[in-house]
Amino acid sequence: MEEDTLDEVLSCFSDKRLGLWGVAQLTAGTGLAVYAVWAGLLMPGFRKVPLKLQVPYLPASRAQVDNVMSLLRGRSGSVADLGSGDGRIVLEACRQGFSPAVGYELNPWLLRVARFHAWRAGYHGKVLYCREDLWKVDLSSCKNVTVFLAPSVLTLLQDKLLAELADDALVVTGRFPFPDWAPCKVEGEGVDRAWAYHIQVVRKNSQLRHSKVDEPPETRIK
Ligand SMILES: C[S@@+](CC[C@H](N)C(=O)[O-])C[C@H]1O[C@@H](n2cnc3c(N)ncnc32)[C@H](O)[C@@H]1O
Repeated sequence: MEEDTLDEVLSCFSDKRLGLWGVAQLTAGTGLAVYAVWAGLLMPGFRKVPLKLQVPYLPASRAQVDNVMSLLRGRSGSVADLGSGDGRIVLEACRQGFSPAVGYELNPWLLRVARFHAWRAGYHGKVLYCREDLWKVDLSSCKNVTVFLAPSVLTLLQDKLLAELADDALVVTGRFPFPDWAPCKVEGEGVDRAWAYHIQVVRKNSQLRHSKVDEPPETRIK
């Protein structure tokens, strides 16, 4: 009896053709659902950020966090995680003694999760999560910066970091290296890998590159 009912339902579906209107409705419905998840859960708060600078949330793996922390060993003072997600890097940095430990994040859901994690770990009031666009944050007083963003925005971020950070600052990036900078140290393998950059060294190399480009060709050593 039950098999008969199932057969009837299946034959009903196979008899029905979707037609152009049906396909259009299905496409629009799927598009709307994808957009709702993207705008409502993954990227709320990003309305004012240009599309090419929007980076979705992907948490750092445990090994990635360990590699980032290992590259920060021996350092002290302030730390800022640009796009802090659920706050795991900021919280770990605070545990390791960095202060102030600040995360900049636009997604209000992730900010809530980060604050909850900090409260649960007993670090409420010791870490700071700010709802701010990382492209608008003034980084001039920051001594240690951590980054886990998409490769597509890293060229632009290089310019911002170089323009704002002091010579004694260190930048650590997880998963993706900066395209034009030479790291002073690398930790880990594969997707968990992290790269560290001394701003003073990066700045010197970049000035050297620019002075070579500006030099008239006849003065260059052959
Ligand atoms: C790949 S996730 C990394 C999360 C976290 N740092 C970690 O390592 O687990 C990138 C994060 O950056 C945030 N983000 C992207 N663009 C941002 C912006 N313009 N201002 C603030 N946060 C941003 C995203 O919401 C996302 O949570």
